[in-house]
Amino acid sequence: SPIELYDIVIFGAKGDLVRRKLIPALYNLESKQHIHENTRIIAVGRAKWSSREYCDMILKNLITFLSKKIDYSIFNKFKSRFVFCNLDVSDHAKFFYLKDIIKKKNSRCIYYLAMPHYTFSNVCLGLKKFNLNDCNSRVVVEKPIGISLETSKLINNVLGTYFRENQIFRIDHYLGKETVLNLLSFRFANLFIYNNWNKSAIDSVQVTLSEEIGLEGRVDFFNSTGQTRDMVQSHLLQLLTLITMSKPYAVNADIIRDEKVKILKSLKPITKNNVKDNIVLGQYHSGFINKKPVKSYLNDLGNDNIVSDTETFIAIKVEVDNEQWNGVPFYIRTGKRLLKKCSEIIVNFKNDSNNIFNKILSSRSSNQLIITLQPNEGLKINIFNRKPGVYDSNNLVTNSLNFSYKKSNETFLNDYERLFLEVIRGNQSLFVRRDEVELAWNWIDSMMYAWKDVNMKPILYQSGTWGPDNSDLLLNKDGRYWYNN
Ligand code: BG6
Repeated sequence: SPIELYDIVIFGAKGDLVRRKLIPALYNLESKQHIHENTRIIAVGRAKWSSREYCDMILKNLITFLSKKIDYSIFNKFKSRFVFCNLDVSDHAKFFYLKDIIKKKNSRCIYYLAMPHYTFSNVCLGLKKFNLNDCNSRVVVEKPIGISLETSKLINNVLGTYFRENQIFRIDHYLGKETVLNLLSFRFANLFIYNNWNKSAIDSVQVTLSEEIGLEGRVDFFNSTGQTRDMVQSHLLQLLTLITMSKPYAVNADIIRDEKVKILKSLKPITKNNVKDNIVLGQYHSGFINKKPVKSYLNDLGNDNIVSDTETFIAIKVEVDNEQWNGVPFYIRTGKRLLKKCSEIIVNFKNDSNNIFNKILSSRSSNQLIITLQPNEGLKINIFNRKPGVYDSNNLVTNSLNFSYKKSNETFLNDYERLFLEVIRGNQSLFVRRDEVELAWNWIDSMMYAWKDVNMKPILYQSGTWGPDNSDLLLNKDGRYWYNN
């Protein structure tokens, strides 16, 4: 479809997200010719920069964060799109300058709020003052939306006062990852998978989002947020909904999101009566990542004497309490300073008890589907075959059917590139609707109240491992094991 003409207005032009993710993503979209010829990128910030000074910063930034060499013929076009607008968003009258820039071309705008949530109401008020929030505009906001149900409602109320829901694009960048997008196609386009995607055929599911990085300078943000609010409320619960949602009756943003909402409503609550059996919290101690020594979490906070109960690791056993899934455990875990960076979904199928080979199919080996989100995006299915050689009907081996995106010759878009493109195209299915955000917070809030109620504290784990030993026990007591490849 033809590329639509929008101007992109980025609030928080100097911030970390903009420099690390947004600018490289926009440059890559430029190189793939996904940006309209006349689109301008209006960077809004408090620095007293000229557009030229801002472009110098962008170039330095691209040299650092782009994973490939800069092509200067592309960069020159890219650079020509930028306009810097010096503005303090708390000074609403100054939005006049922004209006001036926008009205010069009378363009439709995408406002990307790459700023802390407490600034949103100022941005919205400023835009409103000069009627810049008309119904043709779109607004993009980042996760986490708040730190609880209550705070997320306040933020959503602010956005909802100035923009309609169909203008609001709430980013969860996991929804822009290729293998995550493929989940629905894989589940609903393959009858043999579709027919077996339920409690009769599936024994259990694991989702791991493990990271090698620690705080990366985000000390205050992380210490007041923790891994649960940062990763589970958004990325992990979103993945869970995509794994378990029923077939939408059409591939349409709201219909898909309606199905996801049903799952969020069916999550079995974790209460103070069952919290100790269903979650494990951890905090990283010093250790080694890729053979290099790393400090403890408390040391990363700046002082070993600081006391902090913030969890940098969490493993949860959760159930989806509906007809399709009840009884199937979903083990989900995420943590910082773990053995390696990887995001994976493992679906363990049941063994057929009437299997004629049953004698030799141990309870641990079963058909397994491994979906790798990163690194090396792809999909693997472990199946049984006869072991070649002398005839022995009982001799089975496990083989893998492998699909790797790297080997396919398709043009790849990374998460932020894709999400930008979908905002421009106005496709909301890759963005999170208000009710999804609030239901996810509702579930997280009650789990966090429960662990505080029973005074659960994170257990220290050595950096460079898979987290505290108790995380293994969470599965071992059910006769299962984490898939650690
Ligand atoms: C972000 C979190 O949303 O996701 C970070 O705020 C985390 O703490 C990051 O490191 C992980 O994303 P990815 O795509 O690298 O797995």
